[in-house]
Amino acid sequence: RILIIDFGSQYTQLIARRVREAGVFCEIHPWDISGADMQAFAPSGVILSGGPESVTTGTPPRIDDRVFQLGVPVLGICYGMQTMAAQLGGQVETSDHQEFGYAEVRARGHTQLLKDIEDRTTPEGYGMLDVWMSHGDRVSELPSGFKLMASTESAPIAGMADEDRRFYGVQFHPEVTHTVQGQRVLERFVHGICGCGDLWTPGNIIDELIDSVRRQVGSDHVVLGLSGGVDSSVVGALLHRAIGDQLTCVFVDTGLLRHQEGDQVMATFARHMGVRVIRIDAEQRFLEALKGIDDPEQKRKIIGGLFIDVFDEEASKLSNARWLAQGTIYPDVIESAGSKTGKAHVIKSHHNVGGLPETMKLGLVEPLRELFKDEVRRIGVELGLPREMVYRHPFPGPGLGVRILGEVKKEYADLLRKADHIFIEELRKHDLYDKTSQAFAVFLPVKSVGVMGDGRRYDYVVALRAVETIDFMTARWAHLPYDFLDHVSRRIINEVRGISRVTYDISGKPPATIEWE
Ligand code: XMP
Repeated sequence: RILIIDFGSQYTQLIARRVREAGVFCEIHPWDISGADMQAFAPSGVILSGGPESVTTGTPPRIDDRVFQLGVPVLGICYGMQTMAAQLGGQVETSDHQEFGYAEVRARGHTQLLKDIEDRTTPEGYGMLDVWMSHGDRVSELPSGFKLMASTESAPIAGMADEDRRFYGVQFHPEVTHTVQGQRVLERFVHGICGCGDLWTPGNIIDELIDSVRRQVGSDHVVLGLSGGVDSSVVGALLHRAIGDQLTCVFVDTGLLRHQEGDQVMATFARHMGVRVIRIDAEQRFLEALKGIDDPEQKRKIIGGLFIDVFDEEASKLSNARWLAQGTIYPDVIESAGSKTGKAHVIKSHHNVGGLPETMKLGLVEPLRELFKDEVRRIGVELGLPREMVYRHPFPGPGLGVRILGEVKKEYADLLRKADHIFIEELRKHDLYDKTSQAFAVFLPVKSVGVMGDGRRYDYVVALRAVETIDFMTARWAHLPYDFLDHVSRRIINEVRGISRVTYDISGKPPATIEWE
């Protein structure tokens, strides 16, 4: 296993993902982790991330020097390399040539890390690497024991190595895809230098998770709030395999779910997999609570609060439940840790419906705490969940409640469900579903005039929204083909009585958010 030390770079999570892709387990810990904790983690190697600070000014974050006495390989990336240089007796200076973006690195192929890894060879026999750089500082003097490993025009020391101690530093970012050979460099480090095998595969992960859940809960009973989303579904499937009848799921049907979503959850879990699922039909309660409310934040609070109430009521009836399972995944954990160290910039705060009912004295079971979304999905497929469920677009906790602008009414939810279903069905049929990151319809409570046959219609409007994004923090509206949009619009207007006009949302994020509320 690899220990990744976070100095606050936006790319730290990417390093972890790449290491996991190489089949090696890793964890991210903040830069002020103690020497004892590092030792307790028992890593086979350590990676020091980049970061926004400068080693030449103020009181820069330093990793406990004991990292260099663990006897395991250390790879410093960008700031990680600079602090390694400074802490081991080298020099770092603020460069007048800052470098951001593409760069060409001349790699001397004589180190274990970069040997035979190159994009092309120069006539003089140097290997050249196309890489992604972003730095203001540079190492100006190697620490003793180190030799030069790579250089660029503006950073004569763009890589350094002490092969006896197996310490390496690179000024560029191997974790980003713009660094063409980046994955090979990281694989060389974790496999070739640290000696880790590629054991982090879905099958092995599942076996390990099952073992640890069994150890944690013993013969106790566990309750899980199933939402139909990917994370809680995968937890459900995993726990079912791990503890079978000791699991009870509670599925709250808020009346704000997508077309036939409740039936699908029941079909998959209860009928197909034999999981014990209690379905609570709470549509009336939700609609009642939302009556007359049109402020988005208030709607979110009401939906979130009521969800917990209903779940809490049901879970408390299970007198034997000792544990509450949750679909927390690794990015959730890192985000809240990031805000604690104050170094990583927290970009998005979580606003999930659910959360821990405080009155219930239950222990927490969070088997996916160490996994990234793509790993969760792969495990889900391996556990036998339908692909369409596992690779579904994200759906917000408050559901259709934030896609019906203003007051939520059953009539609106029913119209929206139909329109949304047509849109999604057509995306799938035209092989566009997996090419968009998220797509849905939004209900606009305004009426517009139309004609149909000889009659006049005065009906509601829906907007279609489809975006492409990697991280949901920024997004581009999906440039869906006109003919496709035309087809979807016709179907909605013809098939959904009550809707007479369809519009397409062409706003990017920022400034527009993905959801309308
Ligand atoms: P926005 O609208 O903020 O959405 O651009 C970004 C992503 O987050 C989802 N989203 C939510 N998810 N509860 C959730 O669980 C919420 O209140 C919520 N609001 C937005 C949204 O669907 C998109 O994927």
